[in-house]
Amino acid sequence: MTTDYQQLEHEYGVVLAAKRDLVAVRGKGALLYDEAGQAYIDCVGGIGVAALGHSHPKLVEAVQRQAETLITCPHILYNDIRSKMLKKLVEVTPKNLTRAFLCNSGSEAVEAALKFARLHTRRPNFVTAMRGFHGRTMGAVSATFTKKYRDSFEPLIPGFTYVPFNKIEKLEAAIDDNTAAVMLELVQGEGGVNPIQADYIAAARKLCSDRGALLIIDEIQTGFCRTGKFFACEHFDLQPDMMTLAKALGGGVPIGATMINADINIDVGLHGSTFGGNPLACAAALAAMETYQDDNLAQRAAEMGAYFESRLAEKPLSQVRVVRRLGLMIGIEIKHKVLDILAQLLERHIIALPAGPNVIRLLPPLIIEKEQLDRVIEVLQELLA
Ligand SMILES: Cc1ncc(COP(=O)(O)O)c(C=O)c1O
Repeated sequence: MTTDYQQLEHEYGVVLAAKRDLVAVRGKGALLYDEAGQAYIDCVGGIGVAALGHSHPKLVEAVQRQAETLITCPHILYNDIRSKMLKKLVEVTPKNLTRAFLCNSGSEAVEAALKFARLHTRRPNFVTAMRGFHGRTMGAVSATFTKKYRDSFEPLIPGFTYVPFNKIEKLEAAIDDNTAAVMLELVQGEGGVNPIQADYIAAARKLCSDRGALLIIDEIQTGFCRTGKFFACEHFDLQPDMMTLAKALGGGVPIGATMINADINIDVGLHGSTFGGNPLACAAALAAMETYQDDNLAQRAAEMGAYFESRLAEKPLSQVRVVRRLGLMIGIEIKHKVLDILAQLLERHIIALPAGPNVIRLLPPLIIEKEQLDRVIEVLQELLA
């Protein structure tokens, strides 16, 4: 049976990633199950999406209820659940961000931020970071540094400059009168789990303000409690001009958002989205955000992340170069390529991700149980000794 599904995906789908030999058919909490009912500890969580784990009862209930009530509602009409979700989103994000554009993915949220920045500043150019990742659509991939994502699709959107991450003088040299915006991740996810330095982001904020450029923070991977705060911005007391969100916003249901400050004005008709803000996704996002708050999952991510790191360090790990971490966003840089270790983890029923060639990336659900994390630590200690 399992092989049939694999064959069907290969035959009829555009295969988007190197596939693991696992057909996931069901999930509960931090576990995924294959057809035979075998459990796997999910340290990928839909690539940072399933912060509440799988089939969280509050999310299931909200989606079920909304599916029976109203699934779609265009922007030409008002909608009850969309309005409540927007209010909640503005409440939880940094206080200078006063409105949200709703879409369906991270790339679309980035795309909107780039358009809004050009519109607001009337300037053409953007500065982003080396090793940054912002998505796959034409604008988002133009903003993304890694050549392998960009090269086959040229010509891309002009006007992007990539600067070394955490080097203030290079950023200072790159921002000029033509810079519409600087866009940064606060922990580079795909690029290797690289946290930003406090003095660098403070300098970025000041340089943008002084030179009339906007500061866009891409919290698509870091948002919604992942790093031990509701948003990674809070680690730095940072007020960006725009913020892009997706992944954990809907707890698994596709939804993205571009948060904007009060000065940015988007005239009616200039931008849009058919599916963006549909009631089903909004119901999921509202339930997810309420659960992040009610269950204090930011604190849980901070505590479990610290526990993971200190317990992992209890045994000598000769293959590890360094562990980089903020909350439950974990990167373990090893001295060789990671693919072999990822395969061995899977053999031991643990699913993990790479971030670049030699970093093991773990983005477990924030509700992962201590015993499950203990098992991950034990296996990593065995494999990386
Ligand atoms: C920081 C960041 N920005 C943007 C994206 C693109 O999001 P999506 O895949 O939903 O388009 C991702 C996805 O991994 C991401 O990690």
